[in-house]
Amino acid sequence: MHDIVAVVGAGTMGTGIAQVAAQAGHPVLLLDAAPGAADRAVSGIRERVKTLVARGKIDADPDALDLTAVDTADALAPARLVIEAIAEDLEVKRRLFADLERVVTVDCVLASNTSSLPPTALAAGMEHPERVIGLHFFNPVPRMRLVELVAGADTSAQVADRTADLVTRWGKTVVRAAATPGFIVNRIARPYYAEAWRLHEERAAAPETIDAVLTGAGGFPMGPFALMDLIGHDVNEAVTRSVWTAFGHDPRFAPSPAQRALVQAGRLGRKSEQGIYRYGSDSRPPVATAAPRHPAPLEVVDHGAADLRTLLTRSRVAVPGVERDDGTIALPGGALLIRSTGTTATELAARHGTPVIVADRTLDDATATAIAVAACESCPDDALAEAIGLLQAADLAVHVIDDTPGLIVTRTVAMLVNLAADALQQGVADAPDIDTAMRLGAGHPLGPLAWGDRWGAATVHTALAALQDAYGDPRYRPSPLLRRRALSGKALT
Ligand SMILES: NC(=O)c1ccc[n+]([C@@H]2O[C@H](COP(=O)([O-])OP(=O)(O)OC[C@H]3O[C@@H](n4cnc5c(N)ncnc54)[C@H](O)[C@@H]3O)[C@@H](O)[C@H]2O)c1
Repeated sequence: MHDIVAVVGAGTMGTGIAQVAAQAGHPVLLLDAAPGAADRAVSGIRERVKTLVARGKIDADPDALDLTAVDTADALAPARLVIEAIAEDLEVKRRLFADLERVVTVDCVLASNTSSLPPTALAAGMEHPERVIGLHFFNPVPRMRLVELVAGADTSAQVADRTADLVTRWGKTVVRAAATPGFIVNRIARPYYAEAWRLHEERAAAPETIDAVLTGAGGFPMGPFALMDLIGHDVNEAVTRSVWTAFGHDPRFAPSPAQRALVQAGRLGRKSEQGIYRYGSDSRPPVATAAPRHPAPLEVVDHGAADLRTLLTRSRVAVPGVERDDGTIALPGGALLIRSTGTTATELAARHGTPVIVADRTLDDATATAIAVAACESCPDDALAEAIGLLQAADLAVHVIDDTPGLIVTRTVAMLVNLAADALQQGVADAPDIDTAMRLGAGHPLGPLAWGDRWGAATVHTALAALQDAYGDPRYRPSPLLRRRALSGKALT
């Protein structure tokens, strides 16, 4: 016999949570302050489950789902677990928990789906604060596997373990996060959006190019602008603002003026048919245009450019031998191709005394389908054409962007790794949970700490230091833990 689960708040999240609990076999009670909302949610869930069964997605009997809409908190007395998904307001949630405490038995767990409020604050003044816990589901709840479990100062270990076991049995993957702003995902994911805005604001590349590079080279399932259009800029900007405010306006988390302007203009994304891109019956997001075809150079000289070797092999361009060892590839006309470590091509050209083209990094050079490059100012067209031809010979769509530090993937991933290292050092979660949370909660192709190890902490650290230097902006300051790992060579994971 499954325990009775109650869900308070039958909106987007509460309806999803009730569906998942009912599908796992629990009798579910659903309560909402708005008249009729709980009833509508119950019939909505049955319809959705029916559709899923009809499409062969799940094997269930929609009529067997034990869902009951109730009108008063008193009706929740038999519940062993109550999950609230009401308005994100500390006072309103506190009042609900105080009401519930009068109704339910002493062993009933009171969980909150809050995205930002610490469980300790929610439990303040309660008779049994040890049973209050944060249980942060992701939208859409039936499809998103991740749940962040957030214990408060008074939450008992037994309540945390019992709740984690239960939600695991619902088919979810539970990670444990400390009660810090944004928990794991909403904190560490910020640079995925913020760096895209930075690049857009300085006109380094068009949004569709940034999206194409982060998917084709970065391996992310969706580009940041397409994703923000889907989430809604109002929602996305509000999360950024809340994390930024909670961190005392740390420039790491600063919101983008350009996104604010979109929100103020009502260009919220798909839901308003216009965000960064236009939507509607006859329009789709624009597709980025890659560089036109250039011939591959007959041969290039590899001066110990270990981090370009996989692409070089893919290109099948002849490499007669190594002459010196400075991590560059010499193109036939004398220009150098160098992998990005955050320094601009123009600065590298000044250092080497010859034109330089910088190639962005990727998730995996063996499978990448696109890449961004930038040429130094006053780089001859022929030199850039040779670099493009070489990378096109490796079957990459080449996107030429402005000579911006850290190009697109390098800077974005360096900041994701940096924030993950900070979160790890500050005890927000352990390394496996950080990586799991970012893969399942944000859809990233690789956890940020594993990504840091793949590129090497030293490479990431160098990129961040270069970005900080180029912009004079403390948002890029390297995490002290990342710095240590860069020096010691010890893994981040
Ligand atoms: N939407 C998301 O993507 C998301 C993701 C994770 C967490 N959350 C959190 O989940 C919670 C709910 O978010 P949502 O998006 O489902 O909101 P929503 O507006 O879709 O639904 C909230 C529901 O709660 C009801 N309600 C409000 N106050 C109530 C009260 N005192 N008693 C009973 N019912 C009440 C409302 O009538 C409404 O039906 C918030 O705390 C939010 O921060 C949201």
